[in-house]
Amino acid sequence: MKFEKNILCIGAGYVGGPTMAVMAQKCPHYRVTLVDINPARIAQWNSDDLPIYEPGLDEIVKETRSRNLSFSTDIEGGIREADIIFVSVNTPTKDYGIGAGMAADLQYWERTARQILEFSESPKIVVEKSTLPVKTAQAMERILTSTNNGIRFDVLSNPEFLSEGTAIADLQEPDRVLIGSMETESGLKARDVLVEIYANWVPRERIITTNIWSSELSKLVANAFLAQRVSSINSISALCEKTGADIIEVATAVGMDSRIGNKFLNASVGFGGSCFKKDILNLVYLCRSYALHEVADYWESVIKINQYQQERFVFKTLNAMFNTLSGKKICLFGFAFKANTGDTRESPAIFIAKRLLEEKTEVVISDPKALKNAREDLKCMDGKISYIEDPYRAVDGCHAIAVMTEWDLYRNLDFEKIYHFMTKPAFVFDGRNILDHNKLYTIGFNVFPIGKPCMTYL
Ligand code: NAD
Ligand code: UGA
Repeated sequence: MKFEKNILCIGAGYVGGPTMAVMAQKCPHYRVTLVDINPARIAQWNSDDLPIYEPGLDEIVKETRSRNLSFSTDIEGGIREADIIFVSVNTPTKDYGIGAGMAADLQYWERTARQILEFSESPKIVVEKSTLPVKTAQAMERILTSTNNGIRFDVLSNPEFLSEGTAIADLQEPDRVLIGSMETESGLKARDVLVEIYANWVPRERIITTNIWSSELSKLVANAFLAQRVSSINSISALCEKTGADIIEVATAVGMDSRIGNKFLNASVGFGGSCFKKDILNLVYLCRSYALHEVADYWESVIKINQYQQERFVFKTLNAMFNTLSGKKICLFGFAFKANTGDTRESPAIFIAKRLLEEKTEVVISDPKALKNAREDLKCMDGKISYIEDPYRAVDGCHAIAVMTEWDLYRNLDFEKIYHFMTKPAFVFDGRNILDHNKLYTIGFNVFPIGKPCMTYL
């Protein structure tokens, strides 16, 4: 079959995989290819056991893989044949040299730019899908035009706003698609090509176009605002615990103001995920590099509150359990950074598990999708750790349960049965406020929610 366009995506991760799968599903007239430097990841994409868990993804990959979606390690061939190249490689926080712990590490991204330059034989539209510091498109263009090889490259910014766990729905019906371009004749022409691709399934009024710097910055700002809301509600949860106010009641009352809105007001053990912290650090670094120190301090405080919230959770656990956790057994319900994903990157559960192990606690980890990643995250830790998917088996002999992830399955467990299996006095620390606290208390548990009065027999 002859396809209208050849679309390539470099980087077959949490963004590249689902994004291109949905594009292939919605555009059967385009050939969509994903390439990656990691052959194991590509082999998994070509198997029945996909490298990431995302509701609905398996079905779409199965539907499209034999039709117009393929996964390959042939980066060179992919670049040569593509009309449009999405770059979706990882951009983690730099852990070396200048900007360590703050700036984005652009080595993977730059390697990709150089590969595109080396292997291209025809004009390309290059689309930044990764989250990048403002002005990266300029650097990309400089690399691509550095050899004067006569090939035309147009660089666009098209940041991705999907959330893990709801990625497929977010991609199929996005709130908005953002496309930034250079305001030159050829930049605007390239922008229109990308608009037409998305218009295959996204209503045109939801496709917004901006200058390229606004687009790059909007992505960082969107994540910073979302994380800021979580830190705001978490900071107030600490005050609730001191005053007898209830964070759920406060969030409801505040969120019913239509100017504020009710989303992202769930107090928690802290936000995790591969991007919030990284993107805010990136924003902070950017502000500092322009000597905007007050602005940088403001955004940095969002991260500080997140660290404080996690530390507070450990302290509360220690304090409630008679100031010693040594030799006690605590079961973590959930290890993923949020429900409906197996992703554990920057999960608060990693921090909590490590701190509990430092207190010489025996830690049992239970999660329906994230145990493989949890093992990897804790492989260098000393101490007693076990990984048990079945929550009823996991709590056997435990002194406490700490809820880390808001998986639905934990809401519906038989807590009478669980109480029976546990060592007494039994504790629940609900880091997500998802359980029925009154019911737990009636059963006999000592209950410690976030931002609500504790209920205890002690
Ligand atoms: P990821 O680590 O899951 O995937 C990145 C992939 O790129 C990896 O498989 C890696 O092997 C591959 N790669 C690196 N260098 C390469 C190269 N030179 N050639 C080919 N492949 C290469 O990362 P991710 O979570 O998909 O994130 C990618 C980007 O998207 C980041 O900038 C991130 O900030 C952004 N983002 C992520 C999410 C999310 O939910 N994870 C959402 C929106 C935006
Ligand atoms: C986030 C953004 O929501 C996406 O728009 C963005 O594309 C993505 O980052 C990215 O750039 O990577 P994601 O990290 O997948 O998506 O998940 P979120 O739903 O935003 O949750 C992030 C963290 O905040 C999770 O740990 C979650 O449990 C926590 N959270 C969220 C709360 O603690 N309370 C809330 O009310 C909401």
